[in-house]
Amino acid sequence: MKEKTRNEKIKNVQLTMFGTNEFPTYEEIVAEYSKEFEKYVIPKGDNIFGFWMQTLADLELLDLELQGLADWYKIDPIKRNVELKGDIETIRKRIAHLEIVKGRRTLYTDFIDLYGDTNAYAFHNLYPYKGKFYPRVVRTLINAFGLKEEDTILDPFNGSGTTTHEASLMGIKSVGIDITPMGVMLARLKNELLFLSYDDLNFSFEDFIEILKAIHSKNWSHHNKTIENLMLVIYFDTIDAFSRTTRYNKKGKEGLFIEKFMYIKKCYEKLIRLKEKWELKFVKADIYEGDTLELKNKHPNFKEKFDAIITSPPYYFSIDYVGKDKIAYEYLGVNMKEIESKYLGMKNTLSKKKYGNLPSKVILYYEDLRKSIENMFWALKPGGKIAIIVGDSTVGGKKIPTTMMTKKFCEEVGFKFKKLIFNPLLGARNRAIRGESIIICEKAK
Ligand SMILES: C[S@@+](CC[C@H](N)C(=O)[O-])C[C@H]1O[C@@H](n2cnc3c(N)ncnc32)[C@H](O)[C@@H]1O
Repeated sequence: MKEKTRNEKIKNVQLTMFGTNEFPTYEEIVAEYSKEFEKYVIPKGDNIFGFWMQTLADLELLDLELQGLADWYKIDPIKRNVELKGDIETIRKRIAHLEIVKGRRTLYTDFIDLYGDTNAYAFHNLYPYKGKFYPRVVRTLINAFGLKEEDTILDPFNGSGTTTHEASLMGIKSVGIDITPMGVMLARLKNELLFLSYDDLNFSFEDFIEILKAIHSKNWSHHNKTIENLMLVIYFDTIDAFSRTTRYNKKGKEGLFIEKFMYIKKCYEKLIRLKEKWELKFVKADIYEGDTLELKNKHPNFKEKFDAIITSPPYYFSIDYVGKDKIAYEYLGVNMKEIESKYLGMKNTLSKKKYGNLPSKVILYYEDLRKSIENMFWALKPGGKIAIIVGDSTVGGKKIPTTMMTKKFCEEVGFKFKKLIFNPLLGARNRAIRGESIIICEKAK
């Protein structure tokens, strides 16, 4: 009798994933697990950490940001939340390490959700320029330095314009300088795309085929220079991708070109949505092609002009910055050797100075690095702040101590050293560089 009742009961119970009725159902396990998960893993509170915060460096960066943005704050690294006081709307619009502020999403959370990446938002992913740095770090430093709309930032090694683009998105003026025409072209393009009208991005399949033909035969021009350059950059990227792998053969060059264009168009659409939602005001940056070592001669008006500098000089021989853009330079008829010779540490002279037993090529690089830091000191206003992002490369098994040399040069030219944050490069393929350091200094008032 007892047995019968049990069998009847079993008939009414859903079958479990193990095919028996002895255990809770699969759905029950998942429901229970979710409750547990939420209890332990999802942070609670009004102001919570971004899920993208993974390292100790992220914690330090959050701390820096709050120093610049909040009136008062207390970070709880275990519960992954923060207590804070201050101008909540500004914090929500600016902060790069919190997902929720006073119970509401931050702009940065919107960027990540919409673009599906912590760094590829707006036009930051326009082109895979070598040595690009993370927009999140730039945003953090702008916040840490407490920069406002009336301030101006300089990046004297602006590359593809991560600093200038991020500053533009935050409504802050900036100036970028780089020696490579490709970097300058990209930084300008990111600038201009912010102010393009949507209709300018309407092209049919036939248009694309014509455009590709024209570029291929070097007959490409367009009345709108932004469109002209955008198509060129997408073309370079397409050809480069083709030269590296056979993966795209099925799509064909045309298919890949159109796909890349559509990606940029989507980036534009998303940005406009966020611009409206958050009432953002974009500001254009000034981009110059030039040698940072000649800053004083070429830009005498830059003396004590800038409120902050955020920059990353080329690392000693770790990356072939110019060679990477070979396709573009060959197409544009630019002499790569000439650009390379103006690169930090690439002059054809010999150094008279000695730094221990470092090879003379490294010394040459350090001399240039020191001079560039001297020029940065000259360009910064008294009371101005500077962040230099550097990494130690390993050459022939020997570590080149660029981080410590950079700190030393900063102090020698007159800066007051404030902080060094080591940011490990997680999962980096290039094991010659294990991580980067952010060196923060100040110029006395
Ligand atoms: C680490 S990359 C900076 C990349 C940049 N932060 C970005 O996000 O694209 C260093 C840059 O320094 C530039 N550079 C090297 N020597 C230079 C010089 N003497 N004057 C100006 N720029 C130079 C290189 O062209 C390169 O773009």
